[in-house]
Amino acid sequence: VSPGTDLIAEINKLRKEKNAVILAHYYQFPEIQDIADYVGDSLGLAQQAADTNADIIVFAGVHFMGETAKVLSPDKKVILPDLNAGCSLADSCPPDKFGEFIKQHPDHVVVTYVNCSAEIKTMSDIVCTSSNAVKIINSIPADKPIIFAPDANLGKYLMKVTGRDMLLWDGACMVHEAFSIDKLLAAHKEHPTAKIIAHPESESHILKVASFIGSTSKLIDFVKNDPAEEFIVATEAGILHQMSREVPHKKIIAAPAYAENKCSCSECGYMKMNTLQKLYLCMKYEEPEITLPEDIIKNALKPIQRMLELS
Ligand code: 13P
Ligand code: SF4
Repeated sequence: VSPGTDLIAEINKLRKEKNAVILAHYYQFPEIQDIADYVGDSLGLAQQAADTNADIIVFAGVHFMGETAKVLSPDKKVILPDLNAGCSLADSCPPDKFGEFIKQHPDHVVVTYVNCSAEIKTMSDIVCTSSNAVKIINSIPADKPIIFAPDANLGKYLMKVTGRDMLLWDGACMVHEAFSIDKLLAAHKEHPTAKIIAHPESESHILKVASFIGSTSKLIDFVKNDPAEEFIVATEAGILHQMSREVPHKKIIAAPAYAENKCSCSECGYMKMNTLQKLYLCMKYEEPEITLPEDIIKNALKPIQRMLELS
């Protein structure tokens, strides 16, 4: 990219010329969220991908999200700024191992959290996201045993909320497992009126001290609607951008992670692989593109559609 290129102007031009839609997750860099046509949580992004009239879906998120968009809109071109933007949680559930696991429990209904590969989705009966997981679990008849994968923290939280016993896959998100309870409590001591709120991918000792638990969009709604003036937020730090846009007068603090990194908060290295420059380049060259074999598209669609019908 030649120096002095006005990336924002170029992206706007390409979006119009190519009839492209830019979908971004709340964990993306602020400048990407600001230029997106839609910013949302995993469920909202999937719904947008299913409904769009655009010819090209530019997915500013991670690989499994792009795959879900492709499954829902197989005739559209789905491009990602960086194909290496993966997910530690999706990686924690390899298809061969998961295939063996479900074979050992053939009577179980298989519920998979959307943070998994399209191939894993082909093995599931129904998909869920963090914003509809309780509803999805409650929709399964009480006499049916359930396998829940890949996130064990979310699984444990769902078992508590729904009272259902579930067989859990032992996967986790490295970002949500990085929060330090000691540092979190110390931060709360410094800001005693702040409410602690958390994403359900966090570990149970973090969830235990949270006043509210929800998906990224539900956390944003909570900060908007709750009368408190200060919040400590245990999820990926990119969410702070939307929160401070929605409620600029409120104090939003990122929950501290174990290791002191440059912002001493939790950032997802995968989400942050996407930059404005890569966004521009992928729109210009229409690559890297997400492609999937037809049988994967066909078989992953059923459990995703079941979820969308219930959402
Ligand atoms: P939601 O935005 O659906 O809450 O998911 C969070 C997440 O971890 C995405 O990778
Ligand atoms: Fe995956 Fe965690 Fe990053 Fe979300 S925050 S994309 S679950 S590694």
